[in-house]
Amino acid sequence: MSSLHNDYPWTTHSGPIVVSAPMLKIALAPLAVSVSAAGGIGFLAGGFASPELTQHLAEAAELVKASNIPLHNGLLPIGLGFLSWGTDREVALKALQQYPVAAVWSFAPYQLSDLLEWSKAVRQISDNKTRIWVQVGTVAEAVEVAKTTKPDVLVVQGSDSGGHGLSQRASLMTLLPEVRDVFKKEGIEGIPLVASGGIIDGRGAAAALALGADGVCLGTRFLASSEVSIAKGYQDEVLRAGDGGVSTVASTIYDKVRGYRDWPQSYAARGVANRTFLDAVHGMSEDENIAMYEEATKLGDSGWGPEGRMTTYAGTGVGLVKAVSPAGEIVKSIRKEALEVLQKSASRFQV
Ligand SMILES: Cc1cc2nc3c(=O)[nH]c(=O)nc-3n(C[C@H](O)[C@H](O)[C@H](O)COP(=O)(O)O)c2cc1C
Repeated sequence: MSSLHNDYPWTTHSGPIVVSAPMLKIALAPLAVSVSAAGGIGFLAGGFASPELTQHLAEAAELVKASNIPLHNGLLPIGLGFLSWGTDREVALKALQQYPVAAVWSFAPYQLSDLLEWSKAVRQISDNKTRIWVQVGTVAEAVEVAKTTKPDVLVVQGSDSGGHGLSQRASLMTLLPEVRDVFKKEGIEGIPLVASGGIIDGRGAAAALALGADGVCLGTRFLASSEVSIAKGYQDEVLRAGDGGVSTVASTIYDKVRGYRDWPQSYAARGVANRTFLDAVHGMSEDENIAMYEEATKLGDSGWGPEGRMTTYAGTGVGLVKAVSPAGEIVKSIRKEALEVLQKSASRFQV
């Protein structure tokens, strides 16, 4: 039994552990709790720890009660993800004290060393019960975080991922096995690796397991879940877009038009290419692009689409997302399909 099952005892053993990513303003209590209720690990997006965080956690606590998932060690059976570079730590810690959760996820600090003190604080206020998860994007980051912060889980984010990620990194296909190999060489043990980036279904999950993952994390797939907090125009665009290596781009322009100016410089965000991006490439000034974006926010759902300006963050796997399903069904079907794929693949060869 992997230590993930030990630490998160409500998770289902039949198939890989499926995690839903803490997507800012999108992955709220209904999605996180539905994923955990289906035997996965759902992460609520804590973002920068705005004052509404406690309300989201209160809602999660109600939903957990209604779903009959047992509390584990007195902790809510969900995770809470923060964007490290902008987290209001005081607000975050207060919320965690009131609503302790099973895991706290950190992503995108200005410097990796910023994670050390934060992780200590989270461990301290939870009597070492809350587990520390860190999402990283390179072998060097994985090694540094493993040696300094010593997290309980590392989420290894490959370049196919939707939303933000390091501008320069490899796909899971090479990144994950290299992290495994380097950890072995450096004697780093006992940190489960969760693969993230481009996994949409059981086939992707099976591939990640073959590469050495202990679990899989999905963001883009859950954009088409019934419980996600998303505009219809955004969700329709996720269902429409295909051939994600071409239709999506990693860029900083979407942050700029939306007023997010302080992301660490090594990050860009992947989303479906639209007018905002094309106009930027063709030389439109940032000010004009911002003004046009602001006009587009008044259009409602019709503001999305290739000729629209509203941002559709999604990964290269977007073309595999073709229907909206309840999050619990997504989790269960990924587990089942991953096992089938692995068994079928093995049966094609004589050992
Ligand atoms: C719409 C969207 C928003 C995201 N927001 C966050 C976030 O707030 N914090 C975070 O740590 N990761 C965020 N991510 C990245 C995810 O943690 C994860 O790495 C990614 O979704 C995995 O790739 P996939 O989208 O191909 O499944 C976001 C991803 C998407 C698609």
